[in-house]
Amino acid sequence: MNARDAMPQGGTITLRVSEASPSGELGASRDHLLLEVIDTGVGMDAATRARIFEPFFTTKLRDQGTGLGLSIVYQIVSDCGGAIEVDSELDKGTTLRIHLPRVAAPR
Ligand SMILES: Nc1ncnc2c1ncn2[C@@H]1O[C@H](COP(=O)(O)OP(=O)(O)OP(=O)(O)O)[C@@H](O)[C@H]1O
Ligand SMILES: [Mg+2]
Repeated sequence: MNARDAMPQGGTITLRVSEASPSGELGASRDHLLLEVIDTGVGMDAATRARIFEPFFTTKLRDQGTGLGLSIVYQIVSDCGGAIEVDSELDKGTTLRIHLPRVAAPR
């Protein structure tokens, strides 16, 4: 949804799943998965980037965003023992990376 909102004129959303170490090194370890959500949208400046996981932080108009989306994602990923990071620059799109440890069986 964030990727969609960041591309009012359209663009490309890429979802990529791969095996990676917790530090993001591809193929280095089979016990972590990396989920990347990449968009070609408006991107973020440093001030916005620094606050995206804060509850109720939003740059959207009233009624268009609660600012809770990424704070909930952050909580879920943390509870799973994973990590989330963002890579974004103004006008250069956004990449969200979610690292998740594998589990042998559903908990
Ligand atoms: N893919 C993205 N591209 C550009 N900015 C983003 C992106 N994802 C998040 N943001 C910025 O981070 C802010 C917080 O995102 P978050 O998902 O937590 O809340 P929201 O999208 O504003 O509201 P809601 O999730 O309730 O719709 C957004 O308002 C926006 O400024
Ligand atoms: Mg959102």
